Amino acid sequence: MQFFLDTANLEDIKKYASWGIVDGITTNPSLIAKEGVSLEKRIKEITKIIRGPISSEVISTDLDGMLKEGRTYAKWANNIYVKVPMTATGLQAVKIFSKESIKTNVTLVFSVGQAILAAKAGATLVSPFIGRLDDISEDGMALIADIVKIYRNYDFKTKVLVASVRHPRHVIEAAKLGADISTMPPAVLEQLVHHPLTDAGIKKFLDDWEKVKDKQ
Ligand code: G3P
Repeated sequence: MQFFLDTANLEDIKKYASWGIVDGITTNPSLIAKEGVSLEKRIKEITKIIRGPISSEVISTDLDGMLKEGRTYAKWANNIYVKVPMTATGLQAVKIFSKESIKTNVTLVFSVGQAILAAKAGATLVSPFIGRLDDISEDGMALIADIVKIYRNYDFKTKVLVASVRHPRHVIEAAKLGADISTMPPAVLEQLVHHPLTDAGIKKFLDDWEKVKDKQ
């Protein structure tokens, strides 16, 4: 399973990239707005740190605008994935991008039907938002299970990128289902590392070592 970070914060990206386990980055307009920087500047900065896929989202809702923005993003670096919202116009844009060999990530996917359409349009990645479904008492993980099964039934090449991840259990359950990628906020990656028994174990080892260190 690939791990992407869902952030546009450069310090976090540098910090967690240094761990050697960050395979890519997803951004969205809200994450860019949170940083208060220009999209182009920030995405180009991220490309200097991360070699894997970096998603940059179109702002336009019309086809010409989406195509113009996506083609521009794709020229910034060869690991840019154009993030396109799941609309009928978005599907048209994805189909055209796929013919131009521009990689895409169809975002704001909340149903199996939307995921099938994204795959049929030739999306490189599909982003089902599981946390936002859980927030409204739906079952985000059941959506992942259905999408993974259907994509495998038909050998769709589109990869399942589990998005709107809120806690480590989301990552683990998605891995059990065979999802290709989880994108997570830095806090979730941080939570995955820690276990109280690991901390207690390290403390005990060091305390015991302290007692005999002069004999070494
Ligand atoms: O980047 C897309 C997605 O991961 C957003 O997550 O937490 O805003 O629902 P969230």
